[in-house]
Amino acid sequence: MSVSVRIVADAAAVGDAAAELVIAGLGVRDAPVLGVATGSSPLPVYAALERRGPAGRLGLGRAPAPAPGEYVGRPADHPESYRSVVDREVTTRLGLDPSRVAVPDGTAEDLGAACRRYEAALRAAGGVDVQILGIGSNGHIGFNEPGTPADSRTRVAELMPSTRNDNARYFPSLADVPERCITQGIGTILEARSIVLVASGEAKADAVARAVSGTPDPTCPASALQAHPRVTFVLDTAAASLLDPARHGDHALH
Ligand code: F6R
Repeated sequence: MSVSVRIVADAAAVGDAAAELVIAGLGVRDAPVLGVATGSSPLPVYAALERRGPAGRLGLGRAPAPAPGEYVGRPADHPESYRSVVDREVTTRLGLDPSRVAVPDGTAEDLGAACRRYEAALRAAGGVDVQILGIGSNGHIGFNEPGTPADSRTRVAELMPSTRNDNARYFPSLADVPERCITQGIGTILEARSIVLVASGEAKADAVARAVSGTPDPTCPASALQAHPRVTFVLDTAAASLLDPARHGDHALH
């Protein structure tokens, strides 16, 4: 299997390059399913898709858009819930129908059942055509923290202290950052037909290097993406700074 790497100048260029890949990947079906991510990394991708107007929306309004997770125990209308972030940053920009955005229910009494319902919704939609991903500074994808098996499914997961620290910027204080979330498993993510992972900034360089170099290793969950046939890492030069330029230029890695 191969991981493709594209290296561009900065975060805005990451957005443009990733938007092109998203559009190409969504062109395969009539009502394509776009898996959206939260966090700061994908924001330039949504902005670039919005700038492309109808071409960037590609009939998405007709199809469900799954978010990869949800914090546990926060109401859906909390400003930092996945539901709110997706509504704010993605739904209106891309012309999605908010009622069709599939987010796991982090307030459900039976969280296991909420995870199973979410997986069933993905299957009912015919799977995800393009999954946009960010990467944590510790290599997490979704909220699959280091140590997560590559065949994991949607479930309740604990956020590591470093991830809670990284996300504290979105909350009034560290104490407000949730400790648990529902996340798509790595196995769930790997079922997407294509995956576009975006990263910018030096803080991601180590995780990116571990994800694309060497053999897949659960201590860097994103390295499991090496097993996927159609995954592209779109990186700015800072996020790519620890890759070997001779091996990891703007071409597919084998
Ligand atoms: C999944 C998710 C995380 C982020 C990751 C990077 O929806 O939110 O996996 O992609 O924590 O976050 P940023 O992009 O804010 O650095």
